[in-house]
Amino acid sequence: MKFVVTAGPTREPIDPVRFISNRSSGKMGYAIAEAALEAGHEATLISGPTALAAPTNARVTKITTADELFEAVHRETANCDVLVMCAAVSDCKPVEVFAQKMPKQRGEFSLRLTSTRDILASLPHERSYLVIGFAAETHDIETSAQKKLREKNCDAIVANDVSASDVGMESDENAVEIFFQNGERKKISRAKKLSVARELIKIIFEMREKRLTKKT
Ligand code: CTP
Repeated sequence: MKFVVTAGPTREPIDPVRFISNRSSGKMGYAIAEAALEAGHEATLISGPTALAAPTNARVTKITTADELFEAVHRETANCDVLVMCAAVSDCKPVEVFAQKMPKQRGEFSLRLTSTRDILASLPHERSYLVIGFAAETHDIETSAQKKLREKNCDAIVANDVSASDVGMESDENAVEIFFQNGERKKISRAKKLSVARELIKIIFEMREKRLTKKT
């Protein structure tokens, strides 16, 4: 199978030295690409800025902004079997990017922001590849994950609790629950991100097999 995996944060520039971003380390997405390769699949990793070394044999496309990620996802999914959207895409960007470093402002001031495009929601509804979304949640995990599954038209969504500091974002470990379109759900208990990724790859492979059997 051909996997496209997005990983890491995006950075939305304010001026030449400042940006809006988030705490994503990219570890989960890199682990998914590695586990896919290990299982004999092909993997294209679309990565935001991270400190990680890409797995050997992964095709890597580096992006910085949500707009660049949007373009890269649409380009790479033209020929893939699965998109795993693990990147922590910034939900907003400055309306204006200053060409020169903004001088220090005194006291309270505001920065005009606008929303970025939702990449998952922009994908075609009729498509030949599976789409696995991620849901980073600090509360009401199930309700929010189910809402994202529906609204972003994913085949499954992997929910992770990012409220704790020792698991999930930045950590080497993760614990997730996967919600499927048919109402099923599966838990992967807390483990190293590579182990969680290996389980996830097996589950995605089974989803693909089921879909192919249904079609024939
Ligand atoms: N996502 C996306 N495009 C965006 C924002 C998010 O495709 N502009 C994807 C993420 O890669 C992830 C899923 O949507 O697979 C859910 O991301 P998350 O940050 O949990 O949710 P948001 O849609 O950003 O909503 P909120 O911040 O309100 O939780």
